[in-house]
Amino acid sequence: MSIKPKFVKSIDELHEEHGLHTDTEHGLKRTLGAPSLVALGIGAIIGAGLFSITGTAAAHNAGPAVTISFVIAALACGFAGLCYAEFASMIPVAGSAYTYSYATMGEFMAWIIGWDLVLEYALGAATVSISWSRYLVKFLGYYDLHLPPELTMSPFSSVTMADGAVVSGIMNLPAVFIIIMMSLLLIKGTKESATVNTVIVALKIAVVLIFIGLGWGYINSANYTPYIPDNTGDFGSYGWSGIVRAAGIIFFAYIGFDAVSTAAQEAKNPKRDMPIGILVSLAICTVLYILFAHVMTGVANFTSFQGVDGIAPVAVAIDHMGSVGANGVIIPAYPWLNKAIIIAILAGYSSVIMVMLMGQTRVFFSMSKDGLLPKMFSDVHPKFQTPWKSNLLFMGFVSAFAAFVPSSIVGELTSIGTLLAFVLVCLGVIILRKEQPNLPRAFKTPFVPLIPILGIICCLAMMVALPLDTWKRLLIWLALGFAIYFGYSIKHSKMRLKEKQNGK
Ligand code: ALA
Repeated sequence: MSIKPKFVKSIDELHEEHGLHTDTEHGLKRTLGAPSLVALGIGAIIGAGLFSITGTAAAHNAGPAVTISFVIAALACGFAGLCYAEFASMIPVAGSAYTYSYATMGEFMAWIIGWDLVLEYALGAATVSISWSRYLVKFLGYYDLHLPPELTMSPFSSVTMADGAVVSGIMNLPAVFIIIMMSLLLIKGTKESATVNTVIVALKIAVVLIFIGLGWGYINSANYTPYIPDNTGDFGSYGWSGIVRAAGIIFFAYIGFDAVSTAAQEAKNPKRDMPIGILVSLAICTVLYILFAHVMTGVANFTSFQGVDGIAPVAVAIDHMGSVGANGVIIPAYPWLNKAIIIAILAGYSSVIMVMLMGQTRVFFSMSKDGLLPKMFSDVHPKFQTPWKSNLLFMGFVSAFAAFVPSSIVGELTSIGTLLAFVLVCLGVIILRKEQPNLPRAFKTPFVPLIPILGIICCLAMMVALPLDTWKRLLIWLALGFAIYFGYSIKHSKMRLKEKQNGK
């Protein structure tokens, strides 16, 4: 019995649509080698997950054992990464997971994944922008420049001032500012040149290595006792359930390796380089993340990262690198380090935000081309050649989340949305192997179905460990997606219209 659903695009159709039968006439230029793909991956991966969320997850969920959470999340990403590599080498188009599902599970599942990717890309950009805002506030503070605190936080956040007064937020203006800047850049079509990307990647890696190198000497082993703080009685609050929940939360830090898959069309040798780009960037980040988290929770007790939603945790950790003065206050050993690191973080975040906003418009571009979304999402600016209407729309949408929603909520929604996409990509590999075993696969995920099944289990485990409220929000988002699909997309789907014309 065939498990093939209706309205599935054939791989051949996809290759035809995207001009992939030829590399020279319609295809994009194949210029990217393995090192550029690895750099692309690292550029998209290292961001707010490491510099902000690690501190929060250590503070509230895992304590120093957040390092174990990083290993768990890395395993899940490794399994999913292998599945992405198979698809990326077989269907090298920009729509990524959305297009993969159109080719395997049909239009409805493709819609779900495309809709779900909004959580990954749009809300991911919002999360990073909120963290950007925190680091900006911290940086300006070094020069005695203070933005009104109520304009740097969502209405659900508050901060205790030096005089003890508690100030609640109104909106997060700096976060909106960076979203607007990056959206305008994207509209103008300013492509990150390979050089700029390489500089930013080098800067990010340098920051992480300097933090690890300098911080190592200030590790106080007392901060590791207990390594796994006792569970408080609540699921996800320390103990092993806390470690798994923290894995679901810091999973955010790994998001971005899938961005490599969207460059498959530009890879010189996708068969060899896609897996290298995806898996090597993941491996490098895993090692850096574990060491970083180890130093961070070693120099400062994890409880130091607790508290208000406005803390920049790396700055807190660096403030703990120093000797204790006569009055018991720590004299920072590297007062310059905080400023240098924050500059690098601000630059690094900008590129992550840009990649995410671009990924978002790319997915909606593909969905609009397929008729599942209005044409405006694939309207291209006559001069700049960019999907400017889509960019403007998402500028407003992402800004609203960045301005009014706390980072923990958008961050967890990003994680759950991406995890769902990974589950579906893993499932897609199993289905396509069953349905079309003889399709040429430039790269094959090893041990199918074991690896995809392990990917599904790990991702589901992290999803299950996320708070119930995050699940509710995911379901509300999906329900909204169903309403649009059945109200609009089903009537405008080009594939359905074509099959109708053909009298099927
Ligand atoms: N992995 C990216 C970050 O941590 C999304 O910012």
